[in-house]
Amino acid sequence: MKVRIQLTAVLLLTCCILAGCASKPPGSLETRVITAVKHRVTIGGKKERNPLPASPETVAAGKRNFAYYCYSCHGLDGQNTGVPFADRMSPPVPPLTSPQVQSYSDSQLKWIIENGVSPSGMPASAGILNDEEVWQIIQYVRHLPPKGSLGEPAAYSGQGSAGQL
Ligand code: HEC
Repeated sequence: MKVRIQLTAVLLLTCCILAGCASKPPGSLETRVITAVKHRVTIGGKKERNPLPASPETVAAGKRNFAYYCYSCHGLDGQNTGVPFADRMSPPVPPLTSPQVQSYSDSQLKWIIENGVSPSGMPASAGILNDEEVWQIIQYVRHLPPKGSLGEPAAYSGQGSAGQL
């Protein structure tokens, strides 16, 4: 039964993706359907809570990890600042402050970071980041600074790469 529901979800998702031409942004209904499917079905994740406290140290560590592994698509502030292609990816890179992202539970965010979001451009980090690093990033995602406050990634402003790209 579970497999059947997942299969239906995958088919639904595929239809949405095929119906929406890659160069045009998904319509609002399409976005809502995809968001609902992801929240309820495709995004796994146990009911785990973040074992790390929301201390300034944890958030700072998460910010450092983010500036290493995530900034190239999400910007240093998690809101796409200075990422030239963020709107042109299909689906576009969402601001991580958006309700669509913040309404995920901690364990769902962990699952997303570890497994990526197939078939979009969001890569899987399993094997690259350990559990502690992922939980730190999640605390950072819950405490993102104001949009634009960290400037643009140096890699895109022609001043060389700050982290790895
Ligand atoms: C190569 C580009 C790229 C990198 C690197 C990247 N992401 Fe993403 N991310 C994306 C794209 C594209 C999406 C939109 C995916 C979608 O909506 O299907 C996304 C979506 C997300 C989402 C929302 C998923 C959803 O279902 O709404 C979260 C949370 C996220 N990324 C966190 C991260 C974190 C944390 C890192 C670093 C560990 C990271 N991303 C690295 C491209 C990237």
